[in-house]
Amino acid sequence: MTVMVVGNTKGGVGKTTTVVNISAERARAGRRVLVVDGDRQATAQKAIAIRDGGGLLPAIACATYADGPVLRSQVLTQMDLYDDIIIDAGGRDSTALRAAMSLADVLLIPFEPRSFEVWALEDIAALVDEVRSVRDGLRVYAFLNKAESGVMSADNRAASEALADYPQIEYLSKKLVLRKAYSNAAGAGMSVAEVKDKDPKAIAELKALIAAVF
Ligand SMILES: Nc1ncnc2c1ncn2[C@@H]1O[C@H](COP(=O)(O)OP(=O)(O)OP(=O)(O)O)[C@@H](O)[C@H]1O
Ligand SMILES: [Mg+2]
Repeated sequence: MTVMVVGNTKGGVGKTTTVVNISAERARAGRRVLVVDGDRQATAQKAIAIRDGGGLLPAIACATYADGPVLRSQVLTQMDLYDDIIIDAGGRDSTALRAAMSLADVLLIPFEPRSFEVWALEDIAALVDEVRSVRDGLRVYAFLNKAESGVMSADNRAASEALADYPQIEYLSKKLVLRKAYSNAAGAGMSVAEVKDKDPKAIAELKALIAAVF
């Protein structure tokens, strides 16, 4: 089984959008998925509730634990029941993020292709160092979200160069481009592959990202 935390100490980078899209795709692939919402605002939980309301299958289990110690003990308790536990660590409350990182196999960091977002990686890089000082096995990936579509756009190139300053974070060349499809799907608790109006480019990007991180 895999515990993945989607986290960034910076808000609004696309954590919830990523969690909902990845979780729905993993569930569609037959995995037993638990989404853990570590954000008091419970945006992921609300999105999954909309999915439930529409009766869409497969159903996805979801629980909100905004308190770090509760999140940690609940994830440990429920670990055996699921194939994937995917945690939305929330933007501000670092106790949930720290608790999630203390358990995770994978930390996936969405970031935006602008320099101030890249600088904000300093905080999360320090957290990665902290976790790794006490245990092995945490894989850490960063990817560009809301990216420009050109393969070699200046912003994207600058971001990947800046990531070179953080050897503890593996930069994935897989990115999610800024596309309405992602926000529309996640808002309804779905992946881009589940909505009626399909965006083939978005579906391909999501599948490539998932293949790179699991
Ligand atoms: N790839 C994308 N393309 C288009 N819109 C996106 C994309 N990713 C995220 N968004 C939009 O950007 C906004 C922020 O995304 P999201 O809520 O997922 O970020 P977050 O990191 O969870 O934010 P918070 O820190 O507030 O929890 C939302 O309006 C979302 O719909
Ligand atoms: Mg969020």
